[in-house]
Amino acid sequence: MEEKKWWKEAVIYEVYPKSFKDSNGDGIGDIKGITSQLPYIKGLGANTIWLCPCYKSPWSDNGYDIADYYQVAPEVGVNEDLYELIEKAGELGIKVLMDLVMNHTSDEHEWFQKALSDPDSQYRDYYFFREGVNGQPPNNWRSYFGGSAWEPVPGEENMFYLHAFTKKMPDLNWDNPAMRKELYKMINWWIDKGIGGFRIDAILNIKKNMVYGTLEADGDDGLVGIQKYIINQPGIGELLSELKAQTFSRYDIMTVAEAAVPDEQVAEFIGPDGYFNMSFDFRAADIDVPESGEWYEPTDWTVNQLRDIFLTVQKEVQNAGWGATYLENHDQNRSVNKYLPESDINDITKKMLGTILLGFRGTPVIYQGEEIGMENIRLDSIDQYADVQTHHQYQEGIKAGLDAQYVFNTVTKRSRDNSRTPMQWNNSKNAGFTDGTSWFPVNPDYAKINVETELQSDNSIYAYYKALIHLRTVSQYKDTLIYGKFVPMFDTVDNVIAYKRQLGTQEIQFIVNFQNKRIDLDIDIEQFKVLMSNYEALDLTGAKLVMEPYQAVVLSNY
Ligand code: GLC
Ligand code: CA
Repeated sequence: MEEKKWWKEAVIYEVYPKSFKDSNGDGIGDIKGITSQLPYIKGLGANTIWLCPCYKSPWSDNGYDIADYYQVAPEVGVNEDLYELIEKAGELGIKVLMDLVMNHTSDEHEWFQKALSDPDSQYRDYYFFREGVNGQPPNNWRSYFGGSAWEPVPGEENMFYLHAFTKKMPDLNWDNPAMRKELYKMINWWIDKGIGGFRIDAILNIKKNMVYGTLEADGDDGLVGIQKYIINQPGIGELLSELKAQTFSRYDIMTVAEAAVPDEQVAEFIGPDGYFNMSFDFRAADIDVPESGEWYEPTDWTVNQLRDIFLTVQKEVQNAGWGATYLENHDQNRSVNKYLPESDINDITKKMLGTILLGFRGTPVIYQGEEIGMENIRLDSIDQYADVQTHHQYQEGIKAGLDAQYVFNTVTKRSRDNSRTPMQWNNSKNAGFTDGTSWFPVNPDYAKINVETELQSDNSIYAYYKALIHLRTVSQYKDTLIYGKFVPMFDTVDNVIAYKRQLGTQEIQFIVNFQNKRIDLDIDIEQFKVLMSNYEALDLTGAKLVMEPYQAVVLSNY
């Protein structure tokens, strides 16, 4: 049997600090607010919290631009609040993961400021400062958020610095040993504060293949996507080995990397001796992102494709390692809006998605609000959106000469702001998120979709998630659901997503009819008992399993 580890038995609840719960009426969610809702998270059954960045930051990329790794952002609290959160969570058996952003810092970080003010400072080499060619950038890389990845250094002629994301996020130079040492010190400092581990941001980008000059463009802007030169480049392995040796490997912590690794590298990255305990794959979450990466372009995908991705990723990871599974996070729109036609979004389909997620092999991540079926927000104008990426995507669509309303509709459907709206606690003003003026609009559907309402019913989405989590973390089925082998089922039946988890002779099946149509499947139903279903009544007579539209069932042979 698979080796037992506490982090394999974890259920992670991702919290977006600014939008979870405001404790002091300034309209911004904060650490104290999170602490106040620990019983809620505990009640759901999650035993790990992943905190999105809450470090000091100018928030140009919502906190992923860190100005001080050691300080909590004043907008969300002080360090003592965080230490208190860690302690109180610990008392409830909940571990706290910090978000570790090491590919870049904010341009307001002390290192970068020193590098700017003194070209001879040792901090210059913590980043990528390079001379241009006759005032033009050193090469024609396109940053992830659009435009050149090089920004002219103010006050210096023909000098540029590299930023893969916004220009306020200069990339760190991992070839500099002193810089790496500073990061290791910071990591160990946080671990000593009693955290449970880290979610590690954009880590595949740290090794750069620095090539200069005009490279072959892949777009009309004359630029070429930077990803080709900085994702998972040769030499990254040595850096990650050292990172692990100097930090993670010295403690019993959980490390979850934002790193979609190719099949042949699964063992190296997330095998038993890998650089990390587990990582996120992007394929299913990004099924609706066009090849070009431009969200204003229409995409087409089918449930069969989604099914194939789910099954492939599960099998690839199972062969050599351990994964972290998710449907939503702070970079995604809400899963119901992504995976379902508008007219089919309802409690049944929301529960169906939860069933798919929580049966997978790997450590599941539930993003705040997913467990109550929160949906995308629709705002009236682009100015109301906060996300830097959304604005970039919108500008790109306008530049491409497309109809403004069309661009607005497609870009905002995919906007990261859809999941960054305030948590909906109850049906009072601002959904109970704040007594003040919320920093970001609350989804107007809060009167219908909120925690208080969900907690009142045994039949709610929340209750269903809670039951699924219970099944996997404490019930008699726990071992099969955590350590059992993943085996696809009905993988050629249209619009069915199904698999079983097997441990010895014990078998639990997750079967989902992912369409608005009744079907029946060949299963000798009498051999099984029903552990869960998103329909109240289930037709268990006869030799076939009759599946209602969007029905999900969990069956066990023991
Ligand atoms: C990761 C984060 C995302 C952020 C980016 C740059 O992808 O999840 O929110 O914009 O890294 O740090
Ligand atoms: Ca606040």
